[in-house]
Amino acid sequence: MKISHHLDFMLASILAVATIIFVFLVYNRTIVLSFIVGPFRFSHWLGIIGTVYIAIATPLFVVLKRRFHADWTRIVRFHMFGNMVFFAFIAAHFAAQVGRPPSNYPELGTGLAMFLAMALQVASGFTQRFRSQRAAFKKIFNYKTNMFIHASLVMVFYLVIVFHVLHGLGLT
Ligand code: HEM
Ligand code: HEM
Repeated sequence: MKISHHLDFMLASILAVATIIFVFLVYNRTIVLSFIVGPFRFSHWLGIIGTVYIAIATPLFVVLKRRFHADWTRIVRFHMFGNMVFFAFIAAHFAAQVGRPPSNYPELGTGLAMFLAMALQVASGFTQRFRSQRAAFKKIFNYKTNMFIHASLVMVFYLVIVFHVLHGLGLT
């Protein structure tokens, strides 16, 4: 296995742990992201930026990957690290919402569904990219199914986000 693959694994693992710590600190309001910037709270801006990035970068990845002479490693790095960073933005928006005080608690619905789908998407992307080559592991973990779950979950993102934004903006 190449050294760059080990470095990617380490970097992705550090990013995942940093995201979990960051999200926890936003949830218990040690880090406050609810200040207003223009028409929205900062935590909403993070949700919007993360969503726009993933909505554009995913089809871009699908096209780039299929180009003739495509550099697979570079393109997958862009896919993996880009999505992990912007998922952290979305996770901050999620944590700010579920950490709201009881007097002002949101009605959980489309946002919660999307967060669970995206967390599973990141986790299945991780297991796909860093799959073990050991024969025993390959027997108990089916990578084709994992890839199917990973690629299919993107539909939840594109379908549910429409209803979430309409609801968030008070239009439904
Ligand atoms: C994948 C991306 C996103 C996730 C996981 C997410 C997650 C959440 C969650 C869990 C809530 C609490 C209510 C609920 O469960 O529906 C929420 C509320 C909210 N979200 Fe998002 N969100 C995302 C993207 C966005 C975007 C792009 C916007 C842009 C307008 C947005 C705007 C809002 C607003 C305004 C609320 C507050 C609604 C209320 O107070 O009832 N979110 N979000
Ligand atoms: C959270 C947002 C993400 C979305 C929406 C997403 C979406 C997708 C889609 C649609 C594909 C299928 C592409 C195709 O076959 O044309 C794919 C492939 C893949 N994704 Fe993700 N992904 C996300 C995050 C991640 C993360 C965080 C990782 C790694 C840690 C990852 C690793 C992979 C890998 C390894 C492939 C297979 C590439 C190949 O072998 O050709 N993804 N992803």
